[in-house]
Amino acid sequence: MNNIRIAIQSKGRLASSSEEYLSSLGIEFESNGRNYRVNSKNLPVEIIYLRDDDIPEYVEFGVVDFGIIGENVLNEKRSKVRIVRKLGFSKCSLVIAVPEDSSIRSLKDLEGERIATSYPKILRKFLRSQGIHAVTVLLKGSVEIAPSLCLADAVFDLVQSGETLRENNLKPLFTVMESQAVLIQNPFLSFSL
Ligand code: PRP
Ligand code: ZN
Repeated sequence: MNNIRIAIQSKGRLASSSEEYLSSLGIEFESNGRNYRVNSKNLPVEIIYLRDDDIPEYVEFGVVDFGIIGENVLNEKRSKVRIVRKLGFSKCSLVIAVPEDSSIRSLKDLEGERIATSYPKILRKFLRSQGIHAVTVLLKGSVEIAPSLCLADAVFDLVQSGETLRENNLKPLFTVMESQAVLIQNPFLSFSL
């Protein structure tokens, strides 16, 4: 049998907790931060280090068997993978936020406004459910800067400590979803971790 492949984030918020979780399963391995394929020292397991957004795709196509990913990314990707279990770490929220001095005070005030985000699918689905028509401004990162540069009237982004919102003079308006790390697997796999 081939090694079981497990994909985790190479750099970022999920990375160290994902490694700790695999260790807690009894998988012994040593990474040096640069090798993206690491064989376990005690089990037939290979750890694959990826960019987090890419993990659902690898698991969906069966190139890797399991992955650890945030529910936020998983919802946005809409990949056909099976969620094995919630892992209880990397908890955060996806929040609509507006400038401290904004005239936007409720969800309906978003009508016709521009919202910057890296999560367009989750945002559009939510806006549709609320009957709100708004313009989505798609950004890859540093989303919170958009209102101060007048690129957007609001943002929809991940909030963990709330520090980035505060630093950019933004305040939360509405929490659209809560998120945490989950273990996912390819749906055609006949065993689980
Ligand atoms: C994430 C997220 C927020 C910030 C929230 O950004 O997009 O900007 O962290 O964390 P906080 O509430 O603890 O401040 P990340 O650091 O991943 O950078 P990027 O989105 O600009 O790529
Ligand atoms: Zn950010």
